[in-house]
Amino acid sequence: MHGQDRFLLAGVMGWPISHSRSPMIHNYWLARYGLTGVYAPLAIEPARLGAALRALPALNFSGCNLTIPHKEAALAIVDELDATATRVGAVNCVVVEEDGSLVGRNYDGFGFTAALRAAAPMWRADAGPAVVVGAGGAARAVVAGLIDAGATEIRVFNRTLERAETLAQGFGPTVAAHRWEEREAALADAALVVNTTSQGMIGQPPLDLRLDALPATALVSDIVYAPLETPLLAAARARGLAAVDGLGMLIHQARPAFRDWFGIMPEATPELRARIEATL
Ligand code: ATR
Repeated sequence: MHGQDRFLLAGVMGWPISHSRSPMIHNYWLARYGLTGVYAPLAIEPARLGAALRALPALNFSGCNLTIPHKEAALAIVDELDATATRVGAVNCVVVEEDGSLVGRNYDGFGFTAALRAAAPMWRADAGPAVVVGAGGAARAVVAGLIDAGATEIRVFNRTLERAETLAQGFGPTVAAHRWEEREAALADAALVVNTTSQGMIGQPPLDLRLDALPATALVSDIVYAPLETPLLAAARARGLAAVDGLGMLIHQARPAFRDWFGIMPEATPELRARIEATL
């Protein structure tokens, strides 16, 4: 890793970027582990993503995160992609190597399963079918994370069936696409339901999904974290089901990125979570 005396630098590239909670997360850890440095919000317009990423080594950045709309565009810019970024089709973390080359990684799926485990320690990926709602980039990351965790059956439901089919084809026999109309019937033997769409977010209507058919042992998860308690999670809790909000995924995806850049795998502390919650 880097010398102790070095001023550590990383950041998050997005457009817009002001809403990002990543600076709060990484600057909390820099302080907590006694490291000198800063993690900056970087407003990068799409046409300049290549120039911005290629400038990282000259600026002595250890790397950066990528958020909307840069995650897919970065695939063609970095020098190397790890297996997960390739499979997900998106980069959320760039690491600057000693020789100045850029490696693209994706820790969103890791963040999802790590957050599930932290919130529901009894959860097992092979406990039963997982139902994933949505088929965008977030859904691909969640599916990759579930497969890595040992999921044996993943059912993807998307308003537009074709996108679910395309997603399923890329992941092999563990993942199958299903018709939107069949989503509620498919809950009857499910162990986990995940919303990866923007439905339920502030300003959006609730996800159109009744949980009545779910077994009492099932876990309900939402990657939306604004609001923390989406209508889907409120409905789950009203039924007495375990519910996991999206803030844990945001915090846990940041941990391996921080480790790659700065050499310490940081902790997702209750204090960090409370600090972010106070901004929501
Ligand atoms: P991301 O990459 O962040 O996941 P995305 O690619 O825009 O975002 O995907 C958004 C997801 O929300 C999609 O699965 C989308 O369904 P479509 O593929 O049919 O567009 C889903 N979504 C958006 N609005 C929806 C709605 N009103 N009802 C159900 N699903 C919706």
